[in-house]
Amino acid sequence: MNTPTNTSTSHSKPKILVARAIFPEALAKLEESYEVHSNQSDKILTPEELQKALSGVEGALVAGSERIDAAALAQAKNLKVVANISVGYNNFDVPAITAAGVMATNTPDVLTDTTADFGFALLMATARRITESEHWVRAGKWDQWSIVNNPLGMDLHHSTVGIIGMGRIGQGIAKRALGFGMKVIYHNRSHLSDADEKACGATYVSKEELLRTADHVVLVLPYTAQNHHTIGAAEIAMMKPTATLINIARGGIVDDAALAHALQSGKIFAAGLDVFEGEPQVHPELLKCSNIVLAPHIASATEKTRRAMVDLAVENLRAALDGKKPPSLINGEVLEGKKQA
Ligand code: DGY
Repeated sequence: MNTPTNTSTSHSKPKILVARAIFPEALAKLEESYEVHSNQSDKILTPEELQKALSGVEGALVAGSERIDAAALAQAKNLKVVANISVGYNNFDVPAITAAGVMATNTPDVLTDTTADFGFALLMATARRITESEHWVRAGKWDQWSIVNNPLGMDLHHSTVGIIGMGRIGQGIAKRALGFGMKVIYHNRSHLSDADEKACGATYVSKEELLRTADHVVLVLPYTAQNHHTIGAAEIAMMKPTATLINIARGGIVDDAALAHALQSGKIFAAGLDVFEGEPQVHPELLKCSNIVLAPHIASATEKTRRAMVDLAVENLRAALDGKKPPSLINGEVLEGKKQA
């Protein structure tokens, strides 16, 4: 049984849960104000362990690994806030959290540029076959420079990038693409303002037009039930055989089995994935593909940004426990409800 340990001493302080390992300095700072029950082992809590761990605390720092729903909250009678250390919050059942009168927060903005950098890096690595080439060199297969018999990639410069999901990170990728002389098209739930479109040099198109015309398709949309398998066999069939597909959004946005089949049968040129259905498991057919770059969900993983994410989550938690509005509150209705009560 993985039970978070009480790493602070006083019992008069509010109790909080830190459900995943965080930077020691951040933990030490929390211990000055709170009785901290911390899972520094970083072994993911089972749903039963999570329910128990939430039962006695007023605040919780969690991440995508913790599903916060009615079952998790069933015993959490004192809980005021669940602070996600992540911008995406598909691990939250927001209506259930709101119904329980608990504030839910996330960590937007602080990871935008780091994540956009990574999306662009993954795009470059995929189009120019960088990891595949490295494996080739390490395997001793490079015996001579060749005009045609070395890994030949696809250009980024002056190509068309199609971004699906044009929030902060999508716009960050668009701005990077402009530096490469790329044409930027996008598809999103809503159009950007004229000013934002201009800043990104981006043109709104239908999803179908994007899939048919983009040389590189980059996915940056949030995961919701409606967005499940936004890219499946039918969508891949619309893409150019020379196109690349990049997923830095969430597992489940792409049908990984369909993608593996498409990569194996040359329906598209290559893919770069930072997120997977059922991660950390990776579909075994994807592992067999050479025309793929695989990364372990690290788009926001620089030390500076991970520290900033933890700091923002802590700021959210502190505000909520101090009776203030957290800076990145997701469910403002909870406060409205409290005002009316
Ligand atoms: C995010 O912040 O959403 C990252 O993907 C980490 O989960």
